[in-house]
Amino acid sequence: MDQDIEKTLITEEEIQQQCKKIGKQLAEEYEEKFPLAIGVLKGAMPFMSDLLRYMNIHLEMDFMDVSSYGGKKTTSSGEVKIVKDLDTKVEGRHLLIIEDIIDSGQTLSYLVDLFKYRKAASIKIVTLLDKPSGRKANIKADIVGFEVPNAFVVGYGLDFDEKYRNLPYIGVLKPEIYGGK
Ligand code: PRP
Ligand code: MN
Ligand code: MG
Repeated sequence: MDQDIEKTLITEEEIQQQCKKIGKQLAEEYEEKFPLAIGVLKGAMPFMSDLLRYMNIHLEMDFMDVSSYGGKKTTSSGEVKIVKDLDTKVEGRHLLIIEDIIDSGQTLSYLVDLFKYRKAASIKIVTLLDKPSGRKANIKADIVGFEVPNAFVVGYGLDFDEKYRNLPYIGVLKPEIYGGK
């Protein structure tokens, strides 16, 4: 798997350091709030798992799976559909939405609108990566682990063709793998 990676962008150690820092900060902030941590499947899985283990407070976890109409992100209309909804009621709850990356922002823009409509008490967006160059929707994360350039990044939840999610670091994929030049 490593041989498909052109270069490491963020090491495993750097990711873990950031998880610890953000986790501790969130634990202080949400101590008495019994937050609902919402992982956006599938990409958020490794980050959510590591981040929440640094939060030594009571919290609840749930998961949502959404997808863009028309499949591939490059031709995305911005419309999002729910593949798997939460099992938990959002009304009155303090939400921590956990993502691996914000690119166009369309996924999160949809989710934030949905959770506002469902009367969340508060909503905070925590993303490991932010790719500002991809932005189409007007959305900003409250907490960003790392900013990434406009490159094909994979690993630690991020996939290409469902592969590479289990890399413990973030890397740039070799162009010959995804058919780039
Ligand atoms: C990816 C990524 C984010 C979203 C970001 O998920 O994990 O959830 O796209 O893109 P956006 O800001 O342009 O909406 P994807 O829909 O590919 O599903 P996955 O997490 O299962 O890979
Ligand atoms: Mn995702
Ligand atoms: Mg994906």
